[in-house]
Amino acid sequence: MKNFQFRIIAVLFLSFFLVACGKNVQTSQTTPKTDPNNQAQSLSPGDASAVYSLEEVMVHNNESDCWQIVDGKVYNLVSYIPNHPGGKGQILKWCGKDASEIFNLQHNPKTKALLVDYYLGDLK
Ligand code: HEM
Repeated sequence: MKNFQFRIIAVLFLSFFLVACGKNVQTSQTTPKTDPNNQAQSLSPGDASAVYSLEEVMVHNNESDCWQIVDGKVYNLVSYIPNHPGGKGQILKWCGKDASEIFNLQHNPKTKALLVDYYLGDLK
């Protein structure tokens, strides 16, 4: 009888042990240490430049929604329009368009540095 009780206890003990081991294996598999998706989540909008097609830029073609392309980069110039030394009209004509040629023709090369504040992304 004692032998039988001992066997039951041994079997129960072994079962608990195996269940405990199984749980450990499960948790280590479901929680990977490095999640590659977290890298993308940690990027803020300014870190990774967006890419826009010409068609997307063309939609932003008025004073309250003015995107322009200068040398392959896309800018949102809405807030700059009222401050433009060359007048509102000059800049407005180019909303939704590629203004590279006219921009480079009309401005001192140093003026190009002002564009950085209005940068949205690159042209596709
Ligand atoms: C894309 C269309 C644009 C056109 C056609 C245009 C045209 C002009 C013109 C004709 C002038 C000379 C005004 C004068 O001497 O009386 C001028 C000056 C100026 N523009 Fe523009 N502009 C454009 C966009 C921009 C943008 C996007 C910026 C800056 C973010 C800018 C900044 C300036 C500045 C700082 C000056 C005075 C200094 C300089 O001549 O470089 N312009 N612009």
